[in-house]
Amino acid sequence: MVSEPAQDPAYIPKQPVVPYKRTCPFDPAAEYSRLREEDPISPVSFDLSPGRKDGWLITRHEHVRQIMTDHRFSHRNELLALVHSPPFEVENYDPQPSAPGNFVRMDAPDHTRYRRLLTGFFTVRRIQEYEPRLEAIIDGVLDEMAEMEPPVDLVKAFALKIPARSTCSVMGVSESDLVTLAEHFDVIMRIDYTLEEFIHHNTGLNTTLERMMRERFAAEPGDDLLSRLIATGELTEEEMANIAWIAIGGALDTTPNMLALGTFALLEHPEELAKLRANPELMGSGVEELLRYLTISHFGASRTALEDVEIEGVKIEKGQTVVLSLPSANRDAEYFEDADTLDVTRPARRHLAFGFGIHQCLGQHLARATLRIAFQKLFDRFPDLRLTVPASQVPLREKAMHYGVYELPVTWG
Ligand code: HEM
Repeated sequence: MVSEPAQDPAYIPKQPVVPYKRTCPFDPAAEYSRLREEDPISPVSFDLSPGRKDGWLITRHEHVRQIMTDHRFSHRNELLALVHSPPFEVENYDPQPSAPGNFVRMDAPDHTRYRRLLTGFFTVRRIQEYEPRLEAIIDGVLDEMAEMEPPVDLVKAFALKIPARSTCSVMGVSESDLVTLAEHFDVIMRIDYTLEEFIHHNTGLNTTLERMMRERFAAEPGDDLLSRLIATGELTEEEMANIAWIAIGGALDTTPNMLALGTFALLEHPEELAKLRANPELMGSGVEELLRYLTISHFGASRTALEDVEIEGVKIEKGQTVVLSLPSANRDAEYFEDADTLDVTRPARRHLAFGFGIHQCLGQHLARATLRIAFQKLFDRFPDLRLTVPASQVPLREKAMHYGVYELPVTWG
């Protein structure tokens, strides 16, 4: 149950339970280096989870991977403590099981049933077949950007447009519905909204998705992902609306942040950008390295122990939530040589930017292809692209589910 936000002017919004304040826009909070070294399974306190106050922050690559494949750890919504509580008071926090279709926060066999229906649409082969369409979308966005008078905000002119248009084409969502959904997701995926904003955007999101599904069930099926899922006859309108929530939200909040933050990182590492320009075949490994180095899922992933589990002498008790720090795991020097250096020639494939195990990102091949083609074409088309403000003035998305930049002012010519 949610109560009114505190009116006290001294009221300080709640913070995530994990370190997230940065000193450099590309590096995770400095605290992670110490934790990995001295306290890799360190206690944290979840103040919104009665009875499950204590949990653990896991910072080493080895332990994060281990927990992500260990069936003694659950992703069920009703068991998870909140890693970033909302900035308003919540009384009697009592999480419920995930709604039908919201398979991200389910375990096998429920998770398996839904994921199985979707996997075929996101295989490497499917995405390869889709690449010509993706190239046309990216060319179109760059044509529009070239028509603009610089300076422009690269987030709006480039990063947000590409995943939005490819989501429309893959999922069969109309552009006007997508604009509405994107506006709602933009707020819901932050962690500093007010109670009023939360209610407004959460309701807007759900009513839009429910209406879209009602229309879809009544219409002749098309050739897009949502139509083909409906055609299986295995899913209700409610399940479809929740699946659409995950798939559309998953696409709209992630790839744009990687596109904008990745461009920012390359502009600030001109020697790495020069390597990619000189050797276009490096773009595949360059994208993996950017995913590792920047790890935009900066609050990590969480799981809850279904029984007592001991890891390196630390007892994680049944019912305790563990936060798996993906940014920290991806900077683990035991795993990646010179881990704090961006090196586009590094074979960084075993990074954890897409998670690991049964919940590993469903859209990873689409994201990879989008990033590879988009960076290639952006720097071909605008070879002298540069920032118009000092790097220190670029506004950072520290209080959002996915890290990135709110704006990236650039110019060319
Ligand atoms: C650079 C882009 C992306 C990043 C960094 C990213 C990151 C992640 C991560 C870390 C997870 C695992 C969460 C966990 O285990 O708790 C995940 C899961 C997921 N992602 Fe992505 N993602 C990206 C793009 C996408 C796209 C484009 C889509 C949709 C087409 C998508 C859909 C999903 C879905 C549905 C899941 C849940 C899978 C499951 O629970 O079985 N993601 N993503």
